Amino acid sequence: MAKNIEPVYYGEYLQLDKLLDAQHPHSPRYGAEAHDETLFIIVHQVYELWFKQVLHELKSVLALFQSAAIADQDLITVVHRLDRVKAIQTLMNDQVGIIETMTPQEFLAFRDYLLPASGFQSIQFKELEIILGLTRKRRVAFDQQSFYNRLSNEHRTHLEALEEQPSLFDRIDAWLARMPYLEFAGFSFWSLYQDAVKNMLASDEHIIEENDTLTAAEKEQELAALDATRENFAALFDSDKYQQAQADGRVRLSQHALLSALFISLYREEPVFNLPFQVITSLADIDEKLTIWRYKHAMMVQRMIGSKIGTGGSSGHDYLRKTTESNRVFADFFAMATYLIPKAELPALPDHVKRTMGFWVAGLELASGELDL
Ligand code: HEM
Repeated sequence: MAKNIEPVYYGEYLQLDKLLDAQHPHSPRYGAEAHDETLFIIVHQVYELWFKQVLHELKSVLALFQSAAIADQDLITVVHRLDRVKAIQTLMNDQVGIIETMTPQEFLAFRDYLLPASGFQSIQFKELEIILGLTRKRRVAFDQQSFYNRLSNEHRTHLEALEEQPSLFDRIDAWLARMPYLEFAGFSFWSLYQDAVKNMLASDEHIIEENDTLTAAEKEQELAALDATRENFAALFDSDKYQQAQADGRVRLSQHALLSALFISLYREEPVFNLPFQVITSLADIDEKLTIWRYKHAMMVQRMIGSKIGTGGSSGHDYLRKTTESNRVFADFFAMATYLIPKAELPALPDHVKRTMGFWVAGLELASGELDL
């Protein structure tokens, strides 16, 4: 590393003159300054700075997933950076409490001066959603329109170009789909596994039927839910049914990718699967933390404006509440837990399969004939 040749001054390096001169409340333009407007501006600015850092991390992770084969060293970097994203998200979620120290009336003192500006126009937030893998057609209807009528041409063009690029979801799907662990010569894992899950679901059915505390209607409801689980499970091994499940929006990952994720989760203690399992878990954590942020923001908004419409023209709290349910990106990793079976019932991996995995860990080519793909 080269030595620095010029002395550095703290405030200059951090460009504090610009940063600290960027808080200009609008209320003084119309009368007395609303005391809380400074807090409102600073909280938003701090969020935008954290969005910037999160994007910096996610873009680097996305770049690492671009290569056809990802080395274990790179996966370590991925997990490390995703951990950082999670730490920032924890802070961002806690930060909602700061804006909540403002009362609804204190907000009303300047709210109307902000029209029609809105969080809809946070380009970095939209970038974050798009880079993670939220597509236009999966957005709540009002959000789809907001792309057209709430953004400047420049921002819209920028986001539309980003939507054309592969997202982290796409890259993760491709990475999982090309994992060669789905069929092993001489070891029919999936048929053993399917038997174990069928037994598990049959035992659940028995428990429901024997449960005297349930009314007939409740039993019927629970058994119908169990049938739906069976249907989804059957789709994992039937490409026509799987395509239908994708078309219905019950699942988003490709069939191969979901099976790989399942296999990794089932055998996560095998060294070869440990890093992939951490990647999957981190993505589920990030999805969960973003959903928690959406929920906390929606609750804060309800507290602040009740059922008034938002400055961006949405139904406000109601719109935001809907996004918590529909704007999930890695929900498949959560649904997958339905098909996890107790460790004791997992088919033990034969030695030759374990050996194959060991070869992969070492980054060597697989011995031909080891895998029957
Ligand atoms: C008094 C505090 C706040 C209120 C009343 C508020 C209200 C709203 C409302 C009503 C919406 C829906 C769009 C609309 O119709 O305008 C919205 C969206 C949004 N707000 Fe806030 N907000 C507040 C604070 C914040 C803060 C501190 C952030 C941090 C960056 C933020 C970020 C966002 C984002 C990113 C969206 C778009 C969400 C989406 O479309 O899924 N908001 N906000």
